[in-house]
Amino acid sequence: MPQHTPSSPRTDPTVIGAAGWPSELVEAVRASVEAAAHAARPWVGRGDKNAADQAAVSAMRAVLMTAPFTGTVVIGEGEKDQAPMLANGERLGSGLGPECDIAVDPLDGTTLAALGLPGAVCVIALAPRGTMFDPAGVFYMDKLISAAVGRGVLDLSAPATQNLRALAAARGVPESALTVSVLDKPRHVELIRELEFAGARVIRAREGDVSPAIVAATPGGEIDLVMGIGGTPEGVIAACAVRALGGVMLGRLAPQSDAEERGARATGLDLTRIFTATDLVSSARVLFASAPVT
Ligand code: FBP
Repeated sequence: MPQHTPSSPRTDPTVIGAAGWPSELVEAVRASVEAAAHAARPWVGRGDKNAADQAAVSAMRAVLMTAPFTGTVVIGEGEKDQAPMLANGERLGSGLGPECDIAVDPLDGTTLAALGLPGAVCVIALAPRGTMFDPAGVFYMDKLISAAVGRGVLDLSAPATQNLRALAAARGVPESALTVSVLDKPRHVELIRELEFAGARVIRAREGDVSPAIVAATPGGEIDLVMGIGGTPEGVIAACAVRALGGVMLGRLAPQSDAEERGARATGLDLTRIFTATDLVSSARVLFASAPVT
């Protein structure tokens, strides 16, 4: 395994929503992302995304195994690409302390980490048991995320230009003053063109839409909006962060293959429903932690 070098970047974790949670559990959650980031960091730029992910998963699991709670993984990222993962349904914790749902992505932006590009992050969210949406086998979700100013303003069924215009009006700035983060994927060619035509600054993220969601939900952040289709697990994790930050999120399941769509219909999931952050995590008592890897 590659060795950590002293010149590597620091991994100071961010914890949001700690009030009302036992301090030992907050500390364990913070330590879990710190450990995951620390374990993934030696793999940065080594071209092996699974090794980076596995290192983060193992380190995070080791900390969570003894954490003072009874946790059930509801969102365990990794299923869509057979990556190493904390499995859905997996039980974690010492069995003492609150009963919680867990949404986790030990390394969001595995390819970014493997290629040494910025934006890879370790994230986890806890909420009371039974409060997180389980997207079953639907891996993709259309997302619209902003800070609180977007409440009652954003509309996922409206065109991108209309959302841009509405948010700019609510902020009292021209559309050209807004920055939108979009995953740089072929499915977004039209969306990016539309946003550019409307005058917005578009940040194309090769991967990783959880970090941009956190920035967008933070008032005064460098990103005003997250738009486009990304992972559903990442969507639920983002919803947890958005709730903890008081931001706004709208999401709609967006299967990207016939098989995924058939699976969604078979499990009775409504592909037209627009979810709010509250639909994705029904409790306002959300504990969220993240630590940067790159
Ligand atoms: P992982 O690094 O955890 O695999 O996820 C990266 C990611 O970019 C997510 O942030 C995003 O939500 C999802 O993948 C998008 O999926 P795809 O790359 O298949 O479009």
